[in-house]
Amino acid sequence: MQIFEFNHPLIQHKLSILRNENTDTKLFRESLTEITSLMIYEATKDLKLKLIETKTPITIAKTKVLDEPVTIVPILRAGLGMVDAMLDVIPTAKVGHLGVYRDEKTFKPHYYYAKMPTNVAESKVIITDPMLATGGSIIYTIDYLKKLGVKNITVMCIIAAPEGIKNIEEKHSDISLYVASIDEKLNDHKYIVPGLGDAGDRIFGTK
Ligand code: PRP
Ligand code: URA
Repeated sequence: MQIFEFNHPLIQHKLSILRNENTDTKLFRESLTEITSLMIYEATKDLKLKLIETKTPITIAKTKVLDEPVTIVPILRAGLGMVDAMLDVIPTAKVGHLGVYRDEKTFKPHYYYAKMPTNVAESKVIITDPMLATGGSIIYTIDYLKKLGVKNITVMCIIAAPEGIKNIEEKHSDISLYVASIDEKLNDHKYIVPGLGDAGDRIFGTK
């Protein structure tokens, strides 16, 4: 599995804001959007291009344009907090929603909703979820997408636990993972330490 961890100062600065328990919902959402915008440049570096001819005011130039459909798949709910930043830079992307929540006692993922674009199998798919804890939700999502025929999968997270990365690697070593920080460990409740708490609650002001 190809893993890319970001050490960029702007990303680390915004990550510090996300981790702070005193950061309110508005600033949390804004910082999540900003951090995603900074990560997406690297996470999309392999997008396919095709050559076209473009008439400039001076001459005909050979230019390059995107030649690959992109589908963003946020894992509900928290993954939604990363979608707007992605659509800002890839406005032609489609969005497929996958509803999976983690059972509070067993920590296993539970499916409740999916709506994918019809061309998802031919797309490069970028899964978004700020938190990769046990990896169960992301593994479920990758399994789901592969069953639909998707071949090219990238995962974008903000914080990941080493345990979850290992679990994904064992099942899906063919994907790419872009993560702002690989944290220390999971606690007894399978929350990431130090982490940032419950990402969905912090984005949507619930709890
Ligand atoms: C959180 C998070 C991930 C999942 C990570 O979602 O956004 O989807 O837990 O845990 P895992 O790696 O152990 O599966 P949650 O289930 O709390 O749902 P929510 O986004 O609706 O709050
Ligand atoms: N889900 C979260 O939102 N945070 C964690 O630390 C673990 C799972």
